Amino acid sequence: MGETIKYVLDETNIPKSWYNLMADLPSPPPPVLHPGTRQPIGPDDLAPLFPMSLILQEVSTERNIEIPKPVRDIYKQWRPSPLFRARRLEQALQTPARIYYKYEGVSPAGSHKPNTAVAQAFYNKDAGVTKITTETGAGQWGSALAFAGAILGVDVQIFMVRVSYNQKPYRRAFMETFGARCIPSPSMETNFGRQVLAATPESNGSLGIAISEAVEVAAGREDTKYALGSVLNHVLLHQTVIGQEAIAQMELAGDYPDFVIGCTGGGSNFSGLAFPFIGAELRGGRKVRVIAVEPAACPSLTRGRYAYDFGDTGHLTPLVRMHTLGSTFMPPGFHAGGLRYHGMSPLVSHIKELGLIEARAYHQTACFEAGVLFARHEGIVPAPEANHAVKATIDEAVRCKEEGSAKTILFNLCGHGHFDMQAYQVYFAARLRDQPYDEAELAMALAGLPSV
Ligand SMILES: Cc1ncc(COP(=O)(O)O)c(C=O)c1O
Repeated sequence: MGETIKYVLDETNIPKSWYNLMADLPSPPPPVLHPGTRQPIGPDDLAPLFPMSLILQEVSTERNIEIPKPVRDIYKQWRPSPLFRARRLEQALQTPARIYYKYEGVSPAGSHKPNTAVAQAFYNKDAGVTKITTETGAGQWGSALAFAGAILGVDVQIFMVRVSYNQKPYRRAFMETFGARCIPSPSMETNFGRQVLAATPESNGSLGIAISEAVEVAAGREDTKYALGSVLNHVLLHQTVIGQEAIAQMELAGDYPDFVIGCTGGGSNFSGLAFPFIGAELRGGRKVRVIAVEPAACPSLTRGRYAYDFGDTGHLTPLVRMHTLGSTFMPPGFHAGGLRYHGMSPLVSHIKELGLIEARAYHQTACFEAGVLFARHEGIVPAPEANHAVKATIDEAVRCKEEGSAKTILFNLCGHGHFDMQAYQVYFAARLRDQPYDEAELAMALAGLPSV
């Protein structure tokens, strides 16, 4: 001990551009298709939902996309985020591995999500949009957009997956503090919500259902657009401030990762950390092993099919090629609400197919166990989603000990768990269940994949 724990950069080191991995890929991902014609869509097809500036980022192949100054000025509120060396955890594990984590829990919402929420609210405001609708799983994304809406003066309406809404009443109050409206989904406010409730009145909800509700509201109004907290290229792009800062901070530490690890729901925090490292490798830099970690109960990357599918349950979105469990797959109500999505970012799916990343899945009990061990040595209670990355990191560090190899491991501690203590309570009471992945339901959901 006695050596540096925290590697910090000052505000002048906030990245000036976002990094676009598309510029360095050996082949582009398959095109996005129109749900009606099954032909590749153009920018105009997305215009009812997003401002043109974000649509152009979605399809851009430019390597560096300038971050507008007003966005960088808001980033100053919490960026650059710190990079920690987990010296106490290393000691506890008696591992020769060097463990680092980038901590995104210092943001106003407590996670990485404001990195894109601020950018999306900025471009919407710039385009004259007065209201944004969205969905939220864990409540982290809704909180982030509520914050961004308050700072930039845009109304925000949030459909929150019902199981999380019930588990986390304080997340709703948090969003309301920023002036947003938070509605449990499925709701009676949309045609699709009413349809789901008629069929399953006790529905837990899912991200796929909440997305359909938010899209339905935005598509029906001139002054309203829709924002997505993950999955899309422009969202992943905005998160690359994480990895760019981490590269500079690893340099301060005089180290470079052998492993880069992140949890994956829709893929945005993972990509935010990993893409700048993958890009450096593709341009001739050092090789890194990049590991995406997902819940065993909703294992899109490890068990899903790489196929064209809808991004939502109500089939209002375009068709994207991704690793999917089927848009009607209903993941069990486990505690990492932000990881309960049936699909995966098309860009993350594509680079998995290219062999640039690996994926693995863990059950939740093992993840909470890892998160508690981490908290007891590092003093930060991770979000249940982040516990998946913590678990993979600890497994690799233990492997280093067994093999006597001193590898460098970097992971994304993408959020804190201060609003997730109910899930920790359930874990401490030994009431957490590792729900098996329902093969029969999956087979049914995959049978319903659209034919392309
Ligand atoms: C703390 C946290 N981590 C991870 C995720 C998963 O999303 P993504 O894969 O886009 O980072 C969420 C989503 O809500 C989240 O709140």
